[in-house]
Amino acid sequence: MSLGPGQTSRAWMYDDLLPGPTLRGRTGDGVRMTLVNGLQEETVVHWHGVDAPEHADGHPRLAVGPGGTLAYDFTLENRAGTYWYHPHPHERTAIQTYRGMAGFFLVDDADSDALDLPSGSREVPLVLQDKRLDGSGEIVYAPSGPDIMTGFLGDVPFVNGTPFPYLPVDRTLYRFRLLNGSNARIFDLALTTGLSFVLIGNDGGFLERPETLQSILLGPGERVDVLVDFTGAPAGDTVVLQSRAFSLAGPPSSQGVAMDLMRFVISSAPAAPRALPEALPALPASPPTEGVPQQTFSFSSFMGRHRINGNSFEMDRVDARIPLGEPQVWRFLNSSPVPHPVHLHSAHFRVRSRNGGRGRLYPWEGGLKDTVLLMPFESVEVVVHFVRHRGLYLMHCHNLEHEDDGMMLNFEVT
Ligand code: C2O
Ligand code: CU
Ligand code: CU
Repeated sequence: MSLGPGQTSRAWMYDDLLPGPTLRGRTGDGVRMTLVNGLQEETVVHWHGVDAPEHADGHPRLAVGPGGTLAYDFTLENRAGTYWYHPHPHERTAIQTYRGMAGFFLVDDADSDALDLPSGSREVPLVLQDKRLDGSGEIVYAPSGPDIMTGFLGDVPFVNGTPFPYLPVDRTLYRFRLLNGSNARIFDLALTTGLSFVLIGNDGGFLERPETLQSILLGPGERVDVLVDFTGAPAGDTVVLQSRAFSLAGPPSSQGVAMDLMRFVISSAPAAPRALPEALPALPASPPTEGVPQQTFSFSSFMGRHRINGNSFEMDRVDARIPLGEPQVWRFLNSSPVPHPVHLHSAHFRVRSRNGGRGRLYPWEGGLKDTVLLMPFESVEVVVHFVRHRGLYLMHCHNLEHEDDGMMLNFEVT
């Protein structure tokens, strides 16, 4: 991979691209793809946020060894949204993702067509990551004990595989599909020069209504779909996408340091202004929650071991069961001083409440989510409703060092 003028680094990539090729489909499309494993170790691809049937979900038990192939064949059932894909092999998800294996999976449908949002060069997927480089400019992945406690954090921001890049933009409306694809870093996103984000979607597609925001806190695995209006920006100006500093109790680390992620350079050419959407497509109906069964999952990080309900992941042990079609309330408790972005396969959920810590929900946590950030000592209640596929699926922390350390479990939709 190229790291900019005269600098290259070894990387592990999908189709020799970093990030991997952006896949784009429509709800109802058939998806047929073959993974050919050119690595010297096993791998498997998981479609994060895409509600795939069990055999196509990329569970680590389906990983193939060097030279092996795996055929995927399923129907795209999700509504329009910003999904993504990355490796999911047993205890090797962190290193493979960090070395470059991740890409977008964008889905469109009649609702997204009707919104007539900025498209072409004005619709830009941006995967936000952080990496460490050694003296010769190679990306390095060598987590120490303390790194496994906090997750592996880098000091160089990468956007779409490029360190601190820039994008020339016209003075009009843009659509950015932002993915936090880092192993462990949380970004508190903001724009300089007083520009704001108009939030229109998140993990599971469009929100109920657009919301103008000055900042968005995005944990690993989470996505937001935002509009940014450069119409009033002075020609030649540079707008920086930043991660603002935030403070975190717990073990010392660079989590929360301020970082400049990328720059938008405003063109001098005139461009036609565009209106913001006034309304967004309706969300699917929410399931009734009165008196539904509850399950509690406690995420702990003690003596450097990351566990759920006291257990480490085991390939064949099933830790929770839920009948297909039955809504339940799942409570995630973070009993540790480190953040845990909790992710579920197979279905999106609705976030109902947060207690402890920040004690409230944020606009980007509305609608349908597949990953929710638990800061230290927070608990979150979500409403889950698995309606598509029976089978074995995963719940895990999307801090990839925590995940590989065993903060993951199998649940079965029965
Ligand atoms: Cu991106 Cu199992 O997840
Ligand atoms: Cu996933
Ligand atoms: Cu975690």
